[in-house]
Amino acid sequence: MLVEELLLFRLDAPKELGMKTAVVTGAGKGLGREIAKGLAKKGFAVLVTDIDGEAARLTAETIGAGAWSTQQDVRDPASHHTIARAANERGALGLWVNNAGVLHTGNAWDHRDEVVREMIEVNVLGMIWGSRAAVDAMRAQGGHLINIASLSSITPVPGLAIYGATKQAVLGFTISLAGDLERAALPIKVSAVCPDGIDTDMVRNVRGSKEAGIVFAAPKLLTVEEVADVLSLGVLDVAEPHALAAHGDQVERVDPPARAAARPLPPRVRL
Ligand SMILES: NC(=O)c1ccc[n+]([C@@H]2O[C@H](COP(=O)([O-])OP(=O)(O)OC[C@H]3O[C@@H](n4cnc5c(N)ncnc54)[C@H](O)[C@@H]3O)[C@@H](O)[C@H]2O)c1
Repeated sequence: MLVEELLLFRLDAPKELGMKTAVVTGAGKGLGREIAKGLAKKGFAVLVTDIDGEAARLTAETIGAGAWSTQQDVRDPASHHTIARAANERGALGLWVNNAGVLHTGNAWDHRDEVVREMIEVNVLGMIWGSRAAVDAMRAQGGHLINIASLSSITPVPGLAIYGATKQAVLGFTISLAGDLERAALPIKVSAVCPDGIDTDMVRNVRGSKEAGIVFAAPKLLTVEEVADVLSLGVLDVAEPHALAAHGDQVERVDPPARAAARPLPPRVRL
């Protein structure tokens, strides 16, 4: 077989094999990379995206199994549609994970305006643009949209007020979107995952900052493997929309309809 033929075979393999494709944003490292790895093991051909194009390429190369990559800044709405099309061309787009995120700690009033804007634009708008593109791409064939929220979506997080607000928005948007999709009878399942602190660069970079104490309040940080397993087992294999909170060695179900009805008070936070 010529090299070109080999390359062609590799590029066409997912569709020829009837593989479903998945998109994971911000998968150049950390949790996204581990999620992408897990999805490849589940048989998805994964399109890995990241603002750091080289990191995305390395993730895809390490994963193999039909994974490929592209550079993407999730703040660009058009990029999500381009990526959804690229994934659908390779095989039916069955899963979209909005994972890209940024964290800065500090008092809300002390952050520079650009820092506030970055958190809102990446964590909230990036997730909304991605969700809109995913729904658009999957509305006929069906699929599953997973948004990476945080334990800060359901609890106050002093020192992380802006970040926490973005993650509350992720959960709020996801729950409402689930209702809209149900009402519109679109065959798309949506889930949110709300992990406690995970041992990634995101939190390693703020270790030692006094405002970040809440991130390290649990007895131990979760590993990326633990959270990716929650996503693979707890989220992908459950039929109806829901959110899961992972903390310590516990995984808790956050039931959106019950949550909306009961409007529970946030759990107390250990400071
Ligand atoms: N680490 C934690 O404790 C923790 C806890 C709960 C939720 N989360 C969430 O999990 C997700 C992954 O976080 P992580 O801990 O792996 O962080 P990380 O910093 O290790 O990785 C984040 C990735 O997102 C990418 N990214 C940043 N801005 C981007 C942009 N504009 N466009 C595209 N990609 C961009 C980065 O390049 C990086 O590869 C985030 O949404 C984060 O908020 C993290």
